[in-house]
Amino acid sequence: MEQYAIKGGNPLVGEVEIGGAKNAALPILAASVMTDETVYIENMPDVRDTNVLLSAMENIGVIVKRTDRHKVTLNASNISELVVEDENIKKIRASYYLIGALLGKYKHAEVALPGGCDIGCRAIDQHIKGFRALGADVKIEHGLIKTQAEHLRGSHIYMDVVSVGATINIMMAAVMAEGTTIIENSAKEPHVVDLANFLNSMGANIKGAGTDVIRIKGVSHLHGTEYAVIPDQIEAGTFMFAAAVTKGDVTVKNVIPKHLESITAKLLEIGCEVEEADDCVRVVASKPLQHTQVKTLPYPGFPTDMQPQITVALGLSKGTSIVTESIFENRFKYVDELTRMGASIKVEGNTAIIDGVSRYTGANISAPDLRAGAALVLAAMSAEGFSTVDDIRYIERGYEDFHLKLQGLGAQIELVETERDLQKFKLKIG
Ligand code: EPU
Repeated sequence: MEQYAIKGGNPLVGEVEIGGAKNAALPILAASVMTDETVYIENMPDVRDTNVLLSAMENIGVIVKRTDRHKVTLNASNISELVVEDENIKKIRASYYLIGALLGKYKHAEVALPGGCDIGCRAIDQHIKGFRALGADVKIEHGLIKTQAEHLRGSHIYMDVVSVGATINIMMAAVMAEGTTIIENSAKEPHVVDLANFLNSMGANIKGAGTDVIRIKGVSHLHGTEYAVIPDQIEAGTFMFAAAVTKGDVTVKNVIPKHLESITAKLLEIGCEVEEADDCVRVVASKPLQHTQVKTLPYPGFPTDMQPQITVALGLSKGTSIVTESIFENRFKYVDELTRMGASIKVEGNTAIIDGVSRYTGANISAPDLRAGAALVLAAMSAEGFSTVDDIRYIERGYEDFHLKLQGLGAQIELVETERDLQKFKLKIG
């Protein structure tokens, strides 16, 4: 029964180091199968989702060596299988990046349908549309997406919705196609750009990543590379909001402040001070938090992956705030848990109407998914009294050493596994 035990009420103060971005690391790992040469990757986050993907890659014959906790070398010259269906891979979203990567290199891939957090229906029609436009046959049979092509040929693809996953997958499938591929209405997230930079460092010819039109000229082969994953925008944003909700003073280090602009803008609007330097941001929350409105949007808009964290902060702000979730249809499941801590939030469709309260009170709550789980931990840290957060396996999918980093900022949080551990923690905090 792994859970976090938390005694709230301490302002978080100090410095925290941000790791590599999970959502950049996942496609970068998958894309490493596209060369027979060795690939060296640094700043690899040690989180469950990347580790599940690495072990699925080992199962198809990729030689994976972790040279230290955040460095990994991969060699895919002896891939033995183009069918990926181990039990764990079904649980992560990024399993589908192996389709684009294997199809791009071997013109054939069969991968278990993706899982991931239960935050909406998470269609994959745009991925399939892209693969078909490049000339692949795609069918779904026995829980697998099966793709095959004689040749992949460059194509002009218009995305009907802005999709991170589909943009990334099509980019990988197109990198070694004959001719030029143009992806219009592509996603502009930092991790899309990071994957393009990674592929270009392997010899690909991708231009325009970070804008809404990406142009890819097919190349005949990709070579090995050394690459460092960008810092995690959402981990950074989560710690920035941890400062806000606990009325703390936190310097978040090893970040790219440009990637955090929409998060910084909202923190300023609700009354926090934010100082930016080259590779860090400091958030000071010395005044009462103010209400605001926010709508999640594709980058550079406010990220859906920060929606629960800002809602937790607005739940403690003066006045009425409105949060509109425009990316996923089922991302307010945590509101029931927050209500049990004293929040006053009404959800109508994709909108949460939040009447700020002066404090939350500790409760036994469960993480419904990765980002909401992290946000509930922030709520528990700001709350009066004691909380437990269950189902932390979701949080471990995307946050490395979450509780240890919070402890480093003065939080009273511990990972407990037994009733005895829990009692010990309670005795310790008094
Ligand atoms: N969509 C379609 N058809 C498609 C693909 C997407 O209709 O073929 C829709 C989705 O249903 C959704 C919207 O488009 O409504 C955006 O989905 P997108 O494809 O951009 O999301 P994703 O690739 O499944 C990634 C991240 C998510 C993050 C979203 C949005 C990874 C592994 N996952 O998901 O991260 O919320 O982009 O930024 O990169 C997380 O890290 O906690 C997480 C959920």
